[in-house]
Amino acid sequence: MIECRKEVKLLTPYMPGKPIDDVKREYGLDDVIKLASNENPLGCSEKAKAAVIKSLEAPSLYPDGNCSNLRNALSQKLHVTSDQLIFGCGSDEIIAIIGKTYINVGDEAITCTPSFPQYKAAVVSMGGVMIEVPLKDHTYDLNGIVNSINERTKIIFISNPNNPTGTIVTKDEQLSFMKKVPKHILVVWDEAYNEYILDVNFPDTLSVMKEYDNIILLRTFSKMYGLASLRIGYGISTKEIIGYMNRLRGPFNVTTQAQDAALASLDAHEFVKESFALNEASKQYTYRKCQELGLSYIQTYGNFIMIDCKLPSLDLFNHLLQKGVIVRPGFYFGMDTYQRVTLGTIEQMERFFELVEEFIQI
Ligand SMILES: Cc1ncc(COP(=O)(O)O)c(C=O)c1O
Repeated sequence: MIECRKEVKLLTPYMPGKPIDDVKREYGLDDVIKLASNENPLGCSEKAKAAVIKSLEAPSLYPDGNCSNLRNALSQKLHVTSDQLIFGCGSDEIIAIIGKTYINVGDEAITCTPSFPQYKAAVVSMGGVMIEVPLKDHTYDLNGIVNSINERTKIIFISNPNNPTGTIVTKDEQLSFMKKVPKHILVVWDEAYNEYILDVNFPDTLSVMKEYDNIILLRTFSKMYGLASLRIGYGISTKEIIGYMNRLRGPFNVTTQAQDAALASLDAHEFVKESFALNEASKQYTYRKCQELGLSYIQTYGNFIMIDCKLPSLDLFNHLLQKGVIVRPGFYFGMDTYQRVTLGTIEQMERFFELVEEFIQI
């Protein structure tokens, strides 16, 4: 047996939402609804689909390792220079690259818990230590993070909104936090769900970055743009930080299909509008339904919601699974009476609540 690095033994494999085909096979079902991975229930835009089909004309050619067309379009849209952008095989890859670029053995990073598990994986895999501050009222505890900073602290990861709770750090909270964080500590603002938020209190991290050169902002095409299967996300930071991170990136880490679909998605304004409207409608329907059933929930800013079903989460999860609805049981996040449910179409949410009601009555 060849001994692997000791850091690898500390990692637990990522547990993705159960795939639809597995559930169909296991339970002999024809219709399965997946509300487990915060995907867009409308799929992706027709423009993105057409771009993927067109890009398949030349699958034998390596992709553009620089993502030049997408880079130029995004740098114009976001008003940043093209060397301030890095593209990855999902923002997952960028998170891993951040760990590889900055974590030495024994360095510490800080985040809150429960939050997105890949932050910890990125740090622990490099021999670093992740300090996990409990959420306060299901929200990132920024004071708790500041109090945990010490001479070993290298990176702070903030999921905004937070996956799985859907809560946000506001603009004012972000500004006062950034003033307190020493400038040699990197702060990663992960805004995977940014496109779902129009609230004026949500931070304008791109503007804040003009004052601070210790920020990396993460965004993705997996959520609102519906390109999760193509795997494309990006990071924005200073030219220097991006320059170092780029040294650790695979030379062709983003496929042509992903690049072309992402580029086309930037023009898919109608699709984004429709997806936003559906998410809002689904959220309001879910709030109403929870109130009707006497279930509490955490107000969400994302395309998912934590619902306290007041039952051991695995019991309800298994019932839903057998009937063809896949969600994320709260035990996975240390919130055992909750289910994390992606906001689907109204029909999908109706089916979810029908099954919850059925289970409550058993
Ligand atoms: C907060 C957060 N960050 C990053 C990601 C990773 O997204 P992707 O790798 O698909 O870009 C997710 C996915 O669920 C997420 O919830």
